[in-house]
Amino acid sequence: MKTRITEMFGIEHPIIQGGMHFVGFAEMAAAVSNAGGLGIITGLTQRSADDLAREIARCREMTDKPFGVNLTFLPSLSTPDYPGYIKAIIDSGVKAVETAGNNPAKWLPVLKEAGIKVIHKCTSVRHSVKAQSIGCDAVSVDGFECGGHPGEDDVPNWILLPRAAEELTIPFVASGGVANGKQLVAALALGADGINMGTRFIATKEAPVHENVKQAILNATELDTRLIMRPLRNTERVLNNAAVERLLAKEKALGPNLKFEDIIEEVAGVYPKIMQEGTMEAGAWSCGMVVGLIHDIPTCQQLIDTIMAEADAIIRNRLPGFLA
Ligand SMILES: Cc1cc2nc3c(=O)[nH]c(=O)nc-3n(C[C@H](O)[C@H](O)[C@H](O)COP(=O)(O)O)c2cc1C
Repeated sequence: MKTRITEMFGIEHPIIQGGMHFVGFAEMAAAVSNAGGLGIITGLTQRSADDLAREIARCREMTDKPFGVNLTFLPSLSTPDYPGYIKAIIDSGVKAVETAGNNPAKWLPVLKEAGIKVIHKCTSVRHSVKAQSIGCDAVSVDGFECGGHPGEDDVPNWILLPRAAEELTIPFVASGGVANGKQLVAALALGADGINMGTRFIATKEAPVHENVKQAILNATELDTRLIMRPLRNTERVLNNAAVERLLAKEKALGPNLKFEDIIEEVAGVYPKIMQEGTMEAGAWSCGMVVGLIHDIPTCQQLIDTIMAEADAIIRNRLPGFLA
């Protein structure tokens, strides 16, 4: 399939794997890129710029296809070494960066000078238009369904994507809630040039996470995610568990007086325990409503091939029939 996104990133299929904390290691990104999509290493999961440079080098050993790096600008306990991470990306020759969170304008000139294509993840039309106006090459439009941070507007993709299509001239991908070829075709119909998936890629053979995480995804339904940190205006969609229930009880009890310190136990530093040790009740971890559509643990190649074959069959066989 050829779209503005496949052309921009030099990939075979219009499928991107979004940055994921403690999931987006070299193994994940290389598996997606080898399968013809765009794999993304999560920059901030690496503790230092040197670590990121080593992770990029490791990924290069596993694939000769293009891959990218995610840089997330969200509130965190200590400010990461962004200039160092960006230097590591540029020096390594990576040509795709997925930015997320705060406006990336400050970093665009240096990235563009290095010939890097920047796709900014946005949860609203106004942020997408802003990203376009400051010179981002593409946008990942992340609907309310998404795993991770859906923003505070609560607009699902059925509305958000066609609204983005009304306003944007740069290409965008549909992100949040996507798992199959039907949705890829729907995304294309709504004006997107491809899809971005997070949660779906965790339930793959190559995802470098504990088996318990993959099983939790298989066992969950579309009813099992919760929104946390809403009172802090840092909303995150996570899979429900005992820690999340505890956190939500604190949010309810403290109301507008809630502070980050009150829930630190449930959210700070929990990713290694969950993703690597498989201690599923250790805290809250991002997960999309799309868990309801995930019923198997294929390889990334099988997953992407199945999505593309399904999309191809719908476009060729099902849709033309409606024109008769
Ligand atoms: C476990 C997990 C961790 C994530 N971590 C990040 C992150 O560090 N930075 C980021 O920009 N997005 C992060 N995301 C969001 C994804 O990149 C992607 O936008 C989102 O998962 C899309 O929604 P979906 O899960 O419904 O496919 C994360 C998502 C998950 C599921």
